[in-house]
Amino acid sequence: MSTNSTLGKPLRLRPGVRKAVLVLHLLGVGAWLGIDVVVGIMAAVGAGSGDPDARGMALQVIGTYLGGPMLAAALIVLATGLILGWGTKWGLVRFWWVVVKLVVNLVLVALILFVLLPGMGEVRAIGEILAETGRLTGDVSDLRFPPAVSLTALTVAVVLSVYKPWGRTLFSKVRRGRQKS
Ligand code: HEM
Repeated sequence: MSTNSTLGKPLRLRPGVRKAVLVLHLLGVGAWLGIDVVVGIMAAVGAGSGDPDARGMALQVIGTYLGGPMLAAALIVLATGLILGWGTKWGLVRFWWVVVKLVVNLVLVALILFVLLPGMGEVRAIGEILAETGRLTGDVSDLRFPPAVSLTALTVAVVLSVYKPWGRTLFSKVRRGRQKS
């Protein structure tokens, strides 16, 4: 981080640090997308009409292993995104594409924390019973929605990151105007 804030210039990440944080940001995005794809495949197997053993196993994998890594990936993307926004010319509330990504990321983290994770124990239990007895004791058809919503939102965020549309926010325009006058 440069230290010239006393000269009135904003703090900026050094180029090497910015690149390292960006690599982490992109690895987090890649991991998150990958986990979503695995959840989607496991949800399709679990809700399908195949062998109850395989279906039960797929539900147990979702219920046991995937929620934690998904939350970790989402938090890594959020944390590195905050650092990149704060420490580069893009800012956190300066450009619409960053603001929208921040909101998307926060909403997805909230959905993982308050909608997805609380239901994981039940999914695991349904999977265990299905694998042991061949009986499906709950509705698991809704499980395809979380990966579908997340994959769609992340695709939108990737497109926003590359095209960077819509320019500056009103907040940024007002601040720039004040600095010029
Ligand atoms: C919602 C999930 C997110 C996804 C899928 C995502 C994706 C990406 C991608 C693909 C890039 C590389 C763009 C390029 O180099 O052309 C990028 C860069 C960036 N992201 Fe994110 N991002 C996400 C969340 C966030 C958040 C929450 C913030 C800020 C609060 C943020 C801030 C940034 C900034 C400032 C850059 C540009 C870094 C630079 O070039 O110095 N991102 N993001």
